[in-house]
Amino acid sequence: MSNAYKLINHNYDVVVVGAGGAGLRATFGMAQKGLKTACLTKVFPTRSHTVAAQGGMSAALANMGQDLWQWHFYDTVKGSDWLGDQDAIEYMCREAIPAVIELEHYGVPFSRTEEGKIYQRPFGGMTTNYGEGTAQRTCAAADRTGHAILHTLYQQALRHNAEFFVEYFALDLIMDDSGACRGVVAWDLSEGTLHVFHAHQTVLATGGYGRSYFSATSAHTCTGDGNGMVLRAGLPLQDMEFTQFHPTGIYGSGCLMTEGCRGEGGYLTNSNGERFMERYAPNAKDLASRDVVSRSMTIEIREGRGVGEHKDHIHLHLEHLGAGVINERLPGIAETARIFAGVDVTKEPAPVLPTVHYNMGGIPTNYRGEVVILKDGNPDHIIPGLMAIGEAACVSVHGANRLGSNSLLDIVVFGRAAAIRCAELVQPNTPHKAAPQAAIDKVVDRFDRLRNAKGENPTASLRMRMQRTMQNHAAVFRTGDSMAEGINLLEEVYAGFEHVGVTDRGMVWNSDLVETLELDNLLGCAMVSIKSAYNRTESRGGHAREDYPDRNDEQWMKHTLASLDAKGGVTIDYRPVHTYTLTDEVEYIPPKKRTY
Ligand code: FUM
Repeated sequence: MSNAYKLINHNYDVVVVGAGGAGLRATFGMAQKGLKTACLTKVFPTRSHTVAAQGGMSAALANMGQDLWQWHFYDTVKGSDWLGDQDAIEYMCREAIPAVIELEHYGVPFSRTEEGKIYQRPFGGMTTNYGEGTAQRTCAAADRTGHAILHTLYQQALRHNAEFFVEYFALDLIMDDSGACRGVVAWDLSEGTLHVFHAHQTVLATGGYGRSYFSATSAHTCTGDGNGMVLRAGLPLQDMEFTQFHPTGIYGSGCLMTEGCRGEGGYLTNSNGERFMERYAPNAKDLASRDVVSRSMTIEIREGRGVGEHKDHIHLHLEHLGAGVINERLPGIAETARIFAGVDVTKEPAPVLPTVHYNMGGIPTNYRGEVVILKDGNPDHIIPGLMAIGEAACVSVHGANRLGSNSLLDIVVFGRAAAIRCAELVQPNTPHKAAPQAAIDKVVDRFDRLRNAKGENPTASLRMRMQRTMQNHAAVFRTGDSMAEGINLLEEVYAGFEHVGVTDRGMVWNSDLVETLELDNLLGCAMVSIKSAYNRTESRGGHAREDYPDRNDEQWMKHTLASLDAKGGVTIDYRPVHTYTLTDEVEYIPPKKRTY
């Protein structure tokens, strides 16, 4: 029981959980501002999933032709299918420009144009002049942009003496009776000790929950840990029905083939050798937004025009670009295709399939990174002491569908915004009030219960059932019937978790227990995702219902808030979409038909 564990206490002004791009940008920004800052991470910082981001980071620098951040704003609102909050989108697109320049000054080795400027490539849904032309807006370091940014941010964090607690698994938030967050309890995986981090602000930067699906481009560490903690704290998650399928995961392994492939001139064909995107998106073609391309590929396969022995995937062509362009701009892709598909992309097409890539939904926040909920009729009630950034959060800048290369942007801009906000809210070295012991005991009791779980259901088999259910029942196209079936199956898995079995009782590097804690987080995310999807009876962005094929602004231009009870029951509420901008530099864009 809880008193059998010796707890080690730490006091910080701010604790950041997660060391991907968002977590690192927030961490060093806070340290730079004189706040005593700790960053807890379950993997070594440079192994965080940001390292896998390939194609680039959007910003209207206009290095390769005309561009304006107002056009970027327009594209992002349209890409979001009008579910994005336009105040937050304005903030992100305007701040994109100084954010990239700042990264350049910190040392990110961006690819260069002949004149030595940052190289920018076209990406899906990014246009000039409000949809008329194609923008070259995505700043790239070949096809390893996330890798370059993550390493640079980690170096900055070390430079500013941020303190890292590496291989610490965050268990749960410490919430007090007033509803404020007072810190977090974490397990040191290598020493086998439990730690209480007292903090004036706790910032969740824990990434997405792509691993609730069977096939995802996400790392195996993307298990929705922050989202799980928020649900267990009795707080809701927002817009969890919106899952992004990236059009070009490698068939079989799910590894990412960057959208930069199509940005550099690559294209998709079906079994007739037809460039079918010309039919679905006559203007943007292969560079339509991801939801549109993924749906088009799925229709081609369903109608019998898939390639391969089972006609169950699509071809991505790069061979016409030539080895020179591929080796300079897409070297990682060439290697990935060789290893995971056995294909030389300079000579033959790569087999690809829409694959889960990103969660638009997450912890609801404002554009400063503060967690918000609906309380007493106020849809923007701030939870004191709790912030969220990056893929874990739902700001909401991506709405129902994120544009490619707006994710690296999101993590850097809102990581920085969280640091700015913390510096306004927290006076360095302010003493901490005593944390509520009952809340800490609750966290430790759950940990102890799972550590000693003796049930008949192995973690791996429950996880596989959850992943297959999500893959089959919350797919690119959904129907009420198929989701209802999925909900029944997932409820069985949820009930099965009551009887989970953990065989390793150790405290040091107990990966059996880590995976069980991760599964608990994933299950909560999966349950609110599929139930939110079942509840939303319209199609919008990444949520495509065959039984409700149209967008319904009158009824559904609102954010879903979904809370979870201990038995897997989900309660749904709503927040309005922000239909205003922050300044008069851009005007609110009212909804209209979305075509590419
Ligand atoms: O395709 C890609 O390189 C992924 C980029 C993104 O998700 O923003």
